[in-house]
Amino acid sequence: MCGIIGIIGKAPVTPLLVDALKRLEYRGYDSAGVATLINGHIDRRRAEGKLANLEAKLAGEPLAGTIGIGHTRWATHGKPSERNAHPIATDRVAVVHNGIIENFQELKDELVAEGRRFDSDTDTEVVAQLLTSYLERQLSPEQAMEKAMGRFKGAFALVALFAGRHDILIGARRGSSLAVGYGEGAMYIGTDALALAPFTDRVAYLEEGDWAVLRDTDCLFYQGVTQVTRTAKHTGLSSTLVGKGNHPHFMLKEICEQPTVLGDTMQQYLDPSRRVRLPALSIDWKNVSRLTMTACGTANFACQIAKYWFEKLARLPVDTEIASEMGSRKPPLSKGSVCVAVSQSGETADTIRAIKYAKQEGLKVVSVVNVPESQIARLSDVVLLTVAGPEIAVASTKAFTTQLLVLLSAAIDAGRARGTLSEEDERALTLALIELPRKVSEVIDAQEQFKALGALELLAKAKCALYLGRDYQYLIAMEGALKLKELTYISAEGYAGGEMKHGPIALVDSDLPVFVLAPSGPSFDEMVSNFEQVKARGGQVILLTDARGASRLANESTACCITLPDVHPDVAPILYAVAVQLIAYHTALSMGRDIDQPRNLAKSVSVA
Ligand code: AGP
Repeated sequence: MCGIIGIIGKAPVTPLLVDALKRLEYRGYDSAGVATLINGHIDRRRAEGKLANLEAKLAGEPLAGTIGIGHTRWATHGKPSERNAHPIATDRVAVVHNGIIENFQELKDELVAEGRRFDSDTDTEVVAQLLTSYLERQLSPEQAMEKAMGRFKGAFALVALFAGRHDILIGARRGSSLAVGYGEGAMYIGTDALALAPFTDRVAYLEEGDWAVLRDTDCLFYQGVTQVTRTAKHTGLSSTLVGKGNHPHFMLKEICEQPTVLGDTMQQYLDPSRRVRLPALSIDWKNVSRLTMTACGTANFACQIAKYWFEKLARLPVDTEIASEMGSRKPPLSKGSVCVAVSQSGETADTIRAIKYAKQEGLKVVSVVNVPESQIARLSDVVLLTVAGPEIAVASTKAFTTQLLVLLSAAIDAGRARGTLSEEDERALTLALIELPRKVSEVIDAQEQFKALGALELLAKAKCALYLGRDYQYLIAMEGALKLKELTYISAEGYAGGEMKHGPIALVDSDLPVFVLAPSGPSFDEMVSNFEQVKARGGQVILLTDARGASRLANESTACCITLPDVHPDVAPILYAVAVQLIAYHTALSMGRDIDQPRNLAKSVSVA
């Protein structure tokens, strides 16, 4: 949810901190700040709003020093402001924090009673004040951090800078990731490998409950008072990977990467005879009675589409659970079932909570993630990786379509193992998946039609929008509505086409854009009925279909008709996902919205 960086080196540290924060800004952009040590004293620069505001402040008031910490914030406690921007500091210690200290009020009351004065409205300030209290009682920084960790409840990744100590930074983690980077003549600590990519690809992750003492050439890791070993690995990430290339936005870059990353991901799940196959011993499908699938946001829609695939191709019953709901209502889970969790970041707090519940109920956990060293990957018995590469834009695109590809591959694997998928159907599906990257390229190459749609006055002045679909396209309608909401701030709803007449049709008038997702195929005729019902009430229909569908409706007037390539009906949701991504992107672009960092959002919701 927030971005953290700490550096000990010999070069001026502030420009390096800012460079790392640029790569972390997608995680939160309410405010940003840096702190360094100058002649043993802590000095800070902080600014509300985007990182550019901090850069402007630093241009006017440079910050020297060769050791420092930095932070980009997505506010949880205390509104976005300079006062609440991290690093939060006393005269003894400066702290940057990702997570929530759930018992902060209890600790704050204790510290105020001790006579301490708080300057911010953040939960993080209890960390700075508690560490200061221990330092004033002559504890060393190491002893202070180890002792303070025992007082905190909740999730945190922390990095602390200590007055007078140019030789160490101390990090600690519980429930939020923190990584140490080994550089040439400098050492780094940050939220994840992506944050460290500009400096090094040799990275060691702190494990749950670890704290670490970063020194100028190495790092000591501890669990409590016991020193432990954490091995550095090469991440393969490089600074070039996280640029926008020649695209105006990360989102467009990542939309356009989909043909490539779908092909790369497909390769992971094709055996030498070009049959779809999960890695050996992944799941014994014949002995699985049920799946419980759980995720948040866009990943949740991937689960809901996968439900249709597993139930159709493998005759395997699936329950889908919104992760935040599953973690709180704790539904009964049958012993013979398997939990499938889907998450791009692998750090979503709600999904982690749901997984922990499934594990305590004795279920095996299979996860579909895009970050192999993420918390969710480490909590899982089986990890099915999407090979989407880093996804920086807050709106999920390539992660979603590669999640769908992995889940469809798993459903095919399950269907074959359970004897419910004929060889002929499997061959047709596999061929459609192999052809998919090319078909996605065709959609992206025909972007002009989405650009024209995005510029429609109908959308620019829309207060709300409806997306309608049936079968798989119902869930793409939900995803399309989410994309439009999070990028344009237009209130949009996705609905099952058949549900229109049971209420939402009351919304229909000549100002309402209604996106009708209707590939020709099994549900086309029913969708034509919905199309007619909307038009009969003056609704403005934006039709997404294929050549056959467009020809059947050639005499019908629409506000716009987007024609997509023909595709196997079971693979169509992946292709139509790209279309709704481009609709949201070009509409937001026409409206002048902040595409990569929409207001109020953050890329990875690592707090509950
Ligand atoms: C997607 O466009 C959203 N940004 C959001 O719904 C996201 O899918 C959700 O927060 C889940 O994130 P995860 O895949 O990293 O767990």
